[in-house]
Amino acid sequence: MSDVFLNGKFIAADKAKVSVLDRGFVFGDGVYEVIPVYDGHCFKLKSHLKRLQNSLDESRIVNPYSEKHWETVLKKLISLHLDGDQVLYLQVTRGVAVRDHVFPENTAPTVFVMSNMMQAVSEEYKANGISAITLKDSRWQKCNIKSISLLPNCLLKQKAKDSGAEEALLISDGFLTEGSTSNAYAVLDGVIYTAPKSGKILPGITRDVVISLALKAGIPLVEEPVAEFKLTDADELWTSSSTKEVLPVTRLNGEKVGTGLPGPVWQKIDELYQHAKSVERNDG
Ligand code: PDD
Repeated sequence: MSDVFLNGKFIAADKAKVSVLDRGFVFGDGVYEVIPVYDGHCFKLKSHLKRLQNSLDESRIVNPYSEKHWETVLKKLISLHLDGDQVLYLQVTRGVAVRDHVFPENTAPTVFVMSNMMQAVSEEYKANGISAITLKDSRWQKCNIKSISLLPNCLLKQKAKDSGAEEALLISDGFLTEGSTSNAYAVLDGVIYTAPKSGKILPGITRDVVISLALKAGIPLVEEPVAEFKLTDADELWTSSSTKEVLPVTRLNGEKVGTGLPGPVWQKIDELYQHAKSVERNDG
């Protein structure tokens, strides 16, 4: 059984135990991060740790570790799993306390980190794209917090799966926000659109990378929401996340997006993204 990190100790996963009174278990009261590890190095570690800090601040949970300490813990866990690319899952909950909605005083947060083998992005998805459906964004107003309370996201993702699609693209007040497990983009007349940072989306780390790669390459990109009715005119639609990278959406609600094949702007961004992954080895 592989080792995980729980509250200061590296132990076998089947020996790692959390109290049933943990507020993560009882209330979903905690936050998380998912960090890709290529060739033993975290990709965009500092950005993930910064977003973790924001999620903790917004949730009023004190960060139990300094950035340096997080880095030490993550590097040690990576070194225990040196078999190919990995995905680190890191979770901090408000800790163990008698059930009460009001925050407990003087309770230490529970810290859990595990490493899983990274599933390579499907060649089929890259060659032919994925299918998506649009659904009403039924989540709350603080989607910028990477909260472990993911029931709304799970319901939306499952609905996509039940209808034979890989992702649900979410619509709030007539505009595309993001995917149930990803950020979303539309390409219209050569311009990439992605919803601006707000409580309506998770500020994806992959999204930040896509934005900076596009702008550096001189591809026009604006952080503006796209109206739902414009999605049918989009030349390309994409999703992005740390585990699935940037994926072309080639069918929306059963209809072709653009030509029905991954488009040229996606191809360029994917090429730049693969390059960024291969050259960034400083855990930055
Ligand atoms: N989720 N939006 C939502 C709702 C997400 O769940 C994710 C990723 C993203 C993309 O964020 P990033 O680029 O930082 O991975 C956007 C992760 C992978 C998960 O929950 O497993």
